[in-house]
Amino acid sequence: MRRIELLLNDPIFNKHMQRNAELEIEPQFCRHDIHHHIDVARIAYILVLEHNDLNYFVKEADLTGRLAAKEVIYAAGLLHDIAKWKEYEAGAEHAAIGARIAREILPRVFFNPHEVDIICQAVYEHRNISRDMSFLGERIHRADNLSRVCIKCEHRMACPKVKNKEITITAFEY
Ligand SMILES: [Fe+2]
Repeated sequence: MRRIELLLNDPIFNKHMQRNAELEIEPQFCRHDIHHHIDVARIAYILVLEHNDLNYFVKEADLTGRLAAKEVIYAAGLLHDIAKWKEYEAGAEHAAIGARIAREILPRVFFNPHEVDIICQAVYEHRNISRDMSFLGERIHRADNLSRVCIKCEHRMACPKVKNKEITITAFEY
C-alpha cells in the first residue's frame, strides 16, 4: 500500500498527530494516537472483508480496484481523528475540521479528487451519523466504536460515550 506508507510519512499528517499527542496529557485512556488510527483502519477493513463487501465497495464507490479500495479504507481510518487536537484547543468539531485537513493531505500522497471526496466524507460522517450516510462512513463509525475495549476500562462508569457504543464481547474479535 504505497500511498498509505506515504501518508504515514507525510509531514503534515505527522504534525497533526503530534498535536494530538501534545494535548492528550490527560486523560490516560481513549488516546487519539497512531495506534488508535491504525486500529480503526484495520477494523474497518475487516468489517468490509467479513461481509464480502470489498468488490461491492469498488463498484459502489467507482474505484479502480481492490487495492485502491483498501487504500481508501485505510486512509479514512488513519485520518478520522486527525483534528482531535482542535477540539481540545478551541472546542471545534473534530470530524468536520478533520475532513478539511484530510482534503489538504490526501492529494500530497496521490489520492485522486474522487477518492479524496469519499475519504473526506467518511471522516466527516464518523461522528455525524445519518440514515443515508456513505458505505465507508458507516464502517469507520463502527470501527471507531469497536476499537475501544470499553468493557475493560476503569473509567467506564463515568464515560459519556460508553452508553451509545456498540460494545459486546465480540469487540475483542477486532
Ligand atoms: Fe476515533
